Amino acid sequence: MTIDPVELATVAVTVENGIAWVSFNRPDKRNCMSPRLNRQMMRVLDDLEFREDVGVLVLTGEGTAWSAGMDLKEYFRETEVDGLGGTRKAQRESYGWWRRLRWYQKPTIAMVNGWCFGGGYGPLFACDLAFAAEDAQFGLSEINWGILPGGGAAKVATELTSFRRAMYHAMMGENIDGKTAVEWGFVNEALPLDQLKARVAEVAAVLLKKNPVALKATKDSIRRVREMTYDNAEDYLIRAQEAANSYDSEGRKEGIKQFIDDKTYKPGLGAYDKTKQR
Ligand code: ACO
Repeated sequence: MTIDPVELATVAVTVENGIAWVSFNRPDKRNCMSPRLNRQMMRVLDDLEFREDVGVLVLTGEGTAWSAGMDLKEYFRETEVDGLGGTRKAQRESYGWWRRLRWYQKPTIAMVNGWCFGGGYGPLFACDLAFAAEDAQFGLSEINWGILPGGGAAKVATELTSFRRAMYHAMMGENIDGKTAVEWGFVNEALPLDQLKARVAEVAAVLLKKNPVALKATKDSIRRVREMTYDNAEDYLIRAQEAANSYDSEGRKEGIKQFIDDKTYKPGLGAYDKTKQR
């Protein structure tokens, strides 16, 4: 099946030094998410997930926006014409790639270069780490045009920040900048825009040196245990590590050996040398 070139162009991808730089690529529309973009993003995630040359995925935006949320025209107005079926299809496509990203095989980093609104909170939360430009603007603007923060956005706000902040943010429809987004827990760090990419590349380079099986087990564990009792979490973590061992029986032993026998590193201060692993 041939894919419409306009649809293909909604997402840009460059792979360099183990990092897949994936961009929302509708800068003239402030990277708002249309059904075409949502379909293309799922294809891109599929293509990159198990590639040997990709160890970390960074999600960013071309131009002045990260993503101005859902496309009010193409995602809402034009799909509603097809009734409930049209709406549900559009939701499946967008929620589908966000869910895929939440449980992605590789570590993921949101590099929020500019506007981040509403539906953009889905992929923001889906990424494991998030770094923003100090001047980036985050907003639950739904209330400003007359809907509630759906598509998971209300859930994301309450997952990431306090009850009072989430409530104020959602009800007032006021934006916060990158620095405030750090204070509220939406992102890890905020930097001047011209330093953002270098910092993200630096973080990605650290992740690329870690054991990839352990990274996947770790990121899934952090997401899963949030909703568990202590005892359930303790049990889940035992099972998750034992399952990880079946994919990577040597890595953990090598990590112990380089510390205890070779004394070439300290786990408290950095990662073991993966290249020496048999
Ligand atoms: N849906 C549809 N079109 C959009 C969206 C969007 N979410 N965001 C921007 N655009 C379009 C504009 O209509 C405009 O199109 P045009 O050139 O054909 O007129 C183009 O993108 C550029 O937008 P401007 O508003 O001219 O850009 P500016 O830089 O001045 O402002 C801003 C940027 C603040 C992001 C503004 O575009 C905006 O408010 N967008 C809507 C943000 C929003 O509330 N999104 C929905 C969140 S709720 C949800 O996702 C469910």
